[in-house]
Amino acid sequence: MRVGFVGWRGMVGSVLMERMVAENDFADIEPVFFTTSNVGGKGPSIGKDIPPLKDANSIDELKTLDAIISCQGGDYTNAVFPGLRAAGWDGYWIDAASSLRMAEDAIIVLDPVNLDVIKDGLARGVKNYIGGNCTVSLMLMAIGGLYREGLVEWVSSMTYQAASGAGAQNMRELIGQMGAIHGAVKPLLDNPASAILEIDRQVADTMRGADFPVDNFGAPLAGSLLPYIDKQLDNLQSKEEWKGNAETNKILGRSANPLPVDGLCVRIGAMRCHSQGLTIKLNRDVPMADIEQILASANDWVKVIPNTREASLKDLTPTAVTGTLSVPVGRLRKMNMGPEYLSAFTVGDQLLWGAAEPLRRMLRVLLA
Ligand code: HSE
Repeated sequence: MRVGFVGWRGMVGSVLMERMVAENDFADIEPVFFTTSNVGGKGPSIGKDIPPLKDANSIDELKTLDAIISCQGGDYTNAVFPGLRAAGWDGYWIDAASSLRMAEDAIIVLDPVNLDVIKDGLARGVKNYIGGNCTVSLMLMAIGGLYREGLVEWVSSMTYQAASGAGAQNMRELIGQMGAIHGAVKPLLDNPASAILEIDRQVADTMRGADFPVDNFGAPLAGSLLPYIDKQLDNLQSKEEWKGNAETNKILGRSANPLPVDGLCVRIGAMRCHSQGLTIKLNRDVPMADIEQILASANDWVKVIPNTREASLKDLTPTAVTGTLSVPVGRLRKMNMGPEYLSAFTVGDQLLWGAAEPLRRMLRVLLA
């Protein structure tokens, strides 16, 4: 299988390359690397010889491929994909960008949760396989078992989303903001006799000051939070909040008979792990032991964390999870609203299960 890679140098693309090398994925394909800026240049080190970089805007080059994986972003997809199909190309298009996600002729890929939907798509001749929104994919990795068992009536997801979801420059800016805050009060911090309210006042002045670095986020994130992610929609949801319902149901193959998902999406100062506080309305009172067993059995990466202070602080944080494929879910208990109301908290790396991992696994599904 001749597989083209576009956008392999960016953040999601780099994580994809790391994962594909780690899993020896390149051994089973003939990889061809593309570029929008450096045609003829050298591709990434993947442990085998590869041809010089080809032009990512050349329909003639792209047409020679059996599959294309794009991490180049939605503008590229919008610019190239329609022309490529119009030129008669009928290979598999695997994409991290959201452009094609909700299209009728596209499947959102998250095979540990929806391999049946993917296989059905392949059997029907669907050729477009798109990675889901990171928050949605991570929620379904965590509580897919409850959906699988038909126990979910609705979910309210309150998110704590990391800087990486906004892009590489945003991650840099977050650290810059942290540094600016620390720098502004370092002399006071170094003096144990200084007054905490004076430190606090100077921190607030710094964060509100004209010099504070906010070019990417548009507002201070370090020491604060941002209660709006992605575009504003006419229905008063943010686009990120809208995706929760639309994509969850599409992934589960039940867009025609959707189970409601809704909540508030909030950016916090984590680097690359999205967390979510979930209220899950079950359609019946299920014993906690059964819930834990169902959650844990859903896939190889979800991990039920005992609802203790010690275990939660040790295993249920962005710091514990970052850079790993583990998807812990914890803080599990029945809520005061009644025995059908389940509380949960989950954390996942948004560059791994939230972006790169479902794409490389889709390639594996095609090769199987
Ligand atoms: N939209 C997500 C975020 C990342 O801003 O965190 C991509 O799915």
